[in-house]
Amino acid sequence: MLQQIEQLEIELKQLKISTPSELEEFRIQYLGKKGLLSRLFEAFKDVPSPDKKVTGLKLNEFKNLVTEKFDSHKSIFSETVQSFQGDITLSPESIPLGSRHPVSLIRKELVSIFSRIGFAVAEGPEIEDDWHVFSGLNFPLEHPARDMQDTFFIEKNPDILLRTHTSSVQVRVMETGHPPIRKVFPGRVFRNEAISARAHCIFHQLEGLYIDKNVSFADLKQTLMFFARELFGEKTQIRLRPSFFPFTEPSAEMDVSCTICGGSGCNVCKYTGYLEILGCGMVDPEVLESSSIDSKIYTGFAFGMGLERIAMLKYQINDLRLYFENDVRFLSQFKAAY
Ligand code: PHE
Repeated sequence: MLQQIEQLEIELKQLKISTPSELEEFRIQYLGKKGLLSRLFEAFKDVPSPDKKVTGLKLNEFKNLVTEKFDSHKSIFSETVQSFQGDITLSPESIPLGSRHPVSLIRKELVSIFSRIGFAVAEGPEIEDDWHVFSGLNFPLEHPARDMQDTFFIEKNPDILLRTHTSSVQVRVMETGHPPIRKVFPGRVFRNEAISARAHCIFHQLEGLYIDKNVSFADLKQTLMFFARELFGEKTQIRLRPSFFPFTEPSAEMDVSCTICGGSGCNVCKYTGYLEILGCGMVDPEVLESSSIDSKIYTGFAFGMGLERIAMLKYQINDLRLYFENDVRFLSQFKAAY
């Protein structure tokens, strides 16, 4: 009998009960009046007395296992029945989906455009030191961008500040990596400006950096042309105007043909036919050298653009403050395509 109980125990452990009706079947089979347990107890009477003690213990153990299994399943099923009160044939209620912030949409789109031509993504800290934001980028000590009026300094320590542009990530990437470097850096930047429809103290930029042997201004132009046409459409024209940045030489600003009128002139482009989009240039050899990159072997280009500005042009948003106010009426107009 001992062996028989052991065998039954194995079967019991393997037995799966997954519905209330299976549980009822189990109850009748094991615990019913003529069920397995009563039959076993009946048979126990005939066990010879020397074996009675061991067999009795085993039988009780088996009985406990059966009742435990029954009780635990019973409580599971009754919980599910109690917690669900409804018509299971109805289709589920739709969950209201959020929308992505326009700046996130633009960031994702830009990262995706540049990734198609081999640019990986890198990030750097928002709280920076003077070296990465200014000195490592060739800003002279008396440069106005370092001025308290433009830059947020931390704890009156002029060496620690909130980055004013994502160009700081250029320096970080150059000091830690070796060319070829082909990366974009999206991120938040801070400038001490009065908040208005056209200026904000927090905004976002996306920076690009490409350093390798034989990188030329023609590569920069082709890269920017590809980007502009992917983002604004294949008829888009670009225009480069000479400019100045301490860390690029030569430097330029890029305009794209107006996304509204296509170049014929309207009030968005102030009848010039073009819109200013970004700053760019060839990385100044001084900047390469101060990050220990040999400027006789390597050349590179960099570009940087404001995401809010691009989102403004793409979605015709006319006030920068809307980006930061979290007004659902504004935000819900942007349906997530990604
Ligand atoms: N950092 C510059 C700015 O914030 C933009 C820029 C980036 C210009 C890279 C040239 C190269 O205005």
